[in-house]
Amino acid sequence: MTEELNYIVTLYPTPVLRKEAAPVETFNEDLAKVVEAMYRRMYDSKGVGLAAPQVGLPQRILVINPTGEPEDKTGELALINPTIVDRFGDESTYEEGCLSFPGIYAEVKRPDKCKVEAMDVNGEKLELEFEGFASRVVQHEYDHLQGILLVDRMSSADKLKHRSALEGLVAEYKAANAPAPKRGMFGR
Ligand code: CO
Repeated sequence: MTEELNYIVTLYPTPVLRKEAAPVETFNEDLAKVVEAMYRRMYDSKGVGLAAPQVGLPQRILVINPTGEPEDKTGELALINPTIVDRFGDESTYEEGCLSFPGIYAEVKRPDKCKVEAMDVNGEKLELEFEGFASRVVQHEYDHLQGILLVDRMSSADKLKHRSALEGLVAEYKAANAPAPKRGMFGR
C-alpha cells in the first residue's frame, strides 16, 4: 500500500507563509502526488484555491478551482512556477477569505484580469488569461508564493476590525510553538 500525503493547512503567522517560495525544478511522480494532496486539502477545507506554503511547502505550486466543487473539474487547475506577467482591466473590490486566516474576511481591491505564464504538472508550458473571480483566486494564491498575505492587503479599517482575531491566531501559534523550558538554567 502506498501512503497518501495528508496535509493540514498552515495558519498565520507560521513563518513558511512569509517566505518567497522557490521554483519547482523536478517534474516527477512526487510533484504529481503533492498536487493531488493539495487538491484534496483544498476541497476538504471548502477552499477555491491553495498555495504550497499553506501546506508547509515553500515551493511555487498552486491549485485552484473557482467553483469549489470537487465534481466540477472545468475550473480545476494546477500552476507550477507561475508568473503573473500582466494585470489589467478595471479594479474591483471583493471580500476575500483565506484558509490560513480562518473566519477572517476582508475587502481586497485587485485588477479584474491577469495573464499568467506557468508550467503544468508535467512541465508543459502554459499561457493563460483569467478574468473575474478566477483571476482574483489566481492573484490571491500567487500572493502566497511571494509571501504576501491577506493581512497585508486589508484596509486599516479591516485590520482594526479583525485585530482580536489576528491576535488570537498569533497567540495560538506562540502557544503551540513555545520552546520547551530549559532545565538547569537556575539552581545549578
Ligand atoms: Co490565502
